[in-house]
Amino acid sequence: WSGELAEVFSPVQIRDETTGQIAAARLGATPLLDSAAALTALDAAVRAYDLGRGEWPTMPLLQRIRHVEQFLAAMQQKRADVVNLLMWEIGKNAADAAKEFDRTCDYIRDTIQALKQQDRADSHFITEQGVLGKIRRVPLGVALCMGPFNYPLNETFTTLIPALMMGNTVVFKPAKYGVLLIEPLLDAFRSCFPAGVINVIYGRGRETVGALMQSGKVDVLAFIGTNKGASDLKRLHPKPHRLKAVLGLDAKNPAIVLPCADLPATAKEVIAGALAFNGQRCTALKIIFVPRAQAAALLPLLAAQIDALKLAMPWQAGAQITPLPEPGKTDAMAALIADARDHGAQVVNSGGGDFAGSLMRPALLYPVSPQMRLYQEEQFGPLVPVVPYDDISEVIDYVIHSNFGQQLSIFGTDGRAIGPLVDIFANQVGRININSQCQRSPDSFPFTGRKDSAEGTLSVQDALHQFSIPTLVATKGNEAGIN
Ligand code: G3H
Repeated sequence: WSGELAEVFSPVQIRDETTGQIAAARLGATPLLDSAAALTALDAAVRAYDLGRGEWPTMPLLQRIRHVEQFLAAMQQKRADVVNLLMWEIGKNAADAAKEFDRTCDYIRDTIQALKQQDRADSHFITEQGVLGKIRRVPLGVALCMGPFNYPLNETFTTLIPALMMGNTVVFKPAKYGVLLIEPLLDAFRSCFPAGVINVIYGRGRETVGALMQSGKVDVLAFIGTNKGASDLKRLHPKPHRLKAVLGLDAKNPAIVLPCADLPATAKEVIAGALAFNGQRCTALKIIFVPRAQAAALLPLLAAQIDALKLAMPWQAGAQITPLPEPGKTDAMAALIADARDHGAQVVNSGGGDFAGSLMRPALLYPVSPQMRLYQEEQFGPLVPVVPYDDISEVIDYVIHSNFGQQLSIFGTDGRAIGPLVDIFANQVGRININSQCQRSPDSFPFTGRKDSAEGTLSVQDALHQFSIPTLVATKGNEAGIN
């Protein structure tokens, strides 16, 4: 490492005491590693794994669990620091920042429980057609874990923790925004795990993780982020057939409002699902289909829900819409609004799309139609596009032809209308929500997607399987040596 640093700024702007100017607050800096330094970290993980013979992959499961329990205890001591950084670095409001931290701790606890249960189940012999055998779940090797800025702790740990617990060694690159909040945990990583088991790298993605992938020494790519990012990385691996990918990718989850929907309840749930954390969730509702005849009744209800949202700084009581962490994001949102306007849509709510600095008032757009960018593109921000439809077949066509397939929500009160849609959509998306928004939780439920939205499933239990493989030890004779 050359000593070069990358400055980290907050999306929250403050007044500089000396110059009086308003600018993004500087929060700190991280080392900017070059490819050689990143490869040194990878080599540490490779050595610790040692082709499956290392101390960590061969350690008895209960002992590995004890390391993770120690880490959890140390992590909980850092709650205030991490929650504070979640607010300052990515603009997450205080309640959601605390929830992300606590949910991550719960996830670790639940994973420990699930692993103990799985171990008990695997300790039984199975017999079939005279063959006696036992399953042993073994690790895959070295995992490269990368999470997104919107859940820089939770989403990253939902791959990092199961990967470690199954005996893999890990290189972990924190999200681009939400990078400093890992710092309070570095000492805990160091003191709770043997050397080389977990290795944190910082720096420009192409230079650092690009070099890791090109080396061919990464066995598992666990990546939650964009499709482009994932395919660029996978392409670099010299032996793609030897690489296991566990991916959570782009989504454009639709809300489908049926003629029989309870409109006030629907409006409330749709706006909560579309705009929690400013719409920056892969699970957010990103396009709303409404029967044309009901649009006039639903739009004012949606607008009223948006008007009631409190725009504020993340630490202020009741803050719901907060600054956007990605530089240039407000311009990107403004360009989507301009494109929709050019093609005939209007911003329905007053002040929708107005912004000051990185704080943007959400925009409700209607009528959104196929020639607009917002119809297909994932906005990942505070825009709520509403599409009128005359016949439900138009919505079915949208879902079936979409490149994405994470989740969808159906709003209605008539089971005879909902049931057939569930049947049609069941092989299009990973989860169908009835009268409720799309979401990942509870974390014990399968979290996955179809088409370009995911590879693999990441519930607590499923994640343990993603980062391991079953080996069967079997005999037709006596069981000596099968333990
Ligand atoms: O960005 C994707 C997250 O996994 C969403 O999780 O639905 O619990 O907010 P969530």
